[in-house]
Amino acid sequence: YLEYLYFEILIKEKMASIYEGLTSLGIMNEKHITVVFDFGYAYTKIGFAGEDSPRAIVKSEVKCRTTGQMVPVFKFESEEQLIQQLVDFIYILYFKKLLANSKERRVVIIENILGPSVRKNALATVFFRYYEVLSLLFVPSHLVALMTLAVKTGLVLDIGYEEATLLPVYEGVPILNAWQAVPTAGKAIHNSLNDLLLDRGFYINDDGKEERLSSVKKEIPEYVLEDMKVRCCFVSTLERSKKLQSNKYDRSIEPPPPPQPVHYPLSSESVLILPGTVREMASEVLFEMDEDDLSLASIILTSILKCPVDTRKDLANNIFIIGGTTKMKGLKSRLLSEIRHLATQPAFSEKLKVDSFKIHNSLVQENCAAWLGGSFLGCTESALDRSVSIESYLKNGAVPDWSNLSFNVKGRQ
Ligand SMILES: Nc1ncnc2c1ncn2[C@@H]1O[C@H](COP(=O)(O)OP(=O)(O)OP(=O)(O)O)[C@@H](O)[C@H]1O
Ligand SMILES: [Mg+2]
Repeated sequence: YLEYLYFEILIKEKMASIYEGLTSLGIMNEKHITVVFDFGYAYTKIGFAGEDSPRAIVKSEVKCRTTGQMVPVFKFESEEQLIQQLVDFIYILYFKKLLANSKERRVVIIENILGPSVRKNALATVFFRYYEVLSLLFVPSHLVALMTLAVKTGLVLDIGYEEATLLPVYEGVPILNAWQAVPTAGKAIHNSLNDLLLDRGFYINDDGKEERLSSVKKEIPEYVLEDMKVRCCFVSTLERSKKLQSNKYDRSIEPPPPPQPVHYPLSSESVLILPGTVREMASEVLFEMDEDDLSLASIILTSILKCPVDTRKDLANNIFIIGGTTKMKGLKSRLLSEIRHLATQPAFSEKLKVDSFKIHNSLVQENCAAWLGGSFLGCTESALDRSVSIESYLKNGAVPDWSNLSFNVKGRQ
């Protein structure tokens, strides 16, 4: 009897998964009616609204129609090229990753509010004209990420691949004039790791002979750098970083003991030796001031200064950091120490008058926080009300954009 019961459960489970497949095709009911897209420079997150994680995280790359090489989707020279790349990329997302038909579904797109209008317009063209989706809703990534914490006020910093962008949100309203951005994120760490390895890394070839990496290789492929970064690198503490910097200029100052080196296999025959100092120093680029005196810590304090005085305390106590690079070990505590240290410096201490800074712990993987916010929002009534329908798009030929004043006319949909 038990065997029979087990068999019945097995059959039911199998059937359930078949039905789930059908539901995802929109045949059974409307459970998966809204699809949520978070297009990033490095990775795109896709899934259905109402679910707690994306169905897939896909590299934002597409095969070039002329050369056949994989190229980044959001690297383009003209709008036509971007549209073509998006058409090919979104085809893969719908029909190879989600296994869902585009026509019967609404779409929520997580957008970077500071992103270029050309990207937004191209996405609207592709979704409405090529994939004929029911409706489209653009939601700001920084704002929806806060929904995952169930708070309305926060200073949201997104450290992704290309750049780190910051936007304060007060009582659910983005304070646009206080936005900040710096080009230090995942890509900057890869470049720094590449330079450090060519300077200090070693290579063991198939004969077991050790030689300098720079004598064998001139460049390391980015996917290898990324893997090394995720597996072997970490963010150092402020105290250790200060000692390392002092030692760089004055060799009489004792450097802190280096972490253990790592032997990273490049192929079945060759091994790369990643020295401990390289593992520690690759991410320092995030905290160095650039020529304009900008760093991750300084943009947070500058942004708080640009906000109205009565909002500053709340914002400083509700810092929320999202984006894949945030997942680096030690990053949050280092950033908090940097902020607290910088706030005591004369440039900020006299004007800021805020003495407490706190960073939220994300409840989900940081690279999916914005997607999850979009997934929540996609299930609400307001998502339906605020979406641009295909009829309205075909009539107006454009999607509302805060930087386009023609949408400020009363009564325009
Ligand atoms: N566990 C991890 N440790 C360190 N870095 C990580 C980890 N997971 C992801 N990353 C890095 O996060 C970056 C991607 O983050 P994310 O997906 O937020 O970027 P994106 O949305 O594609 O970029 P952008 O927001 O700039 O458009 C990559 O550089 C990746 O190497
Ligand atoms: Mg992103």
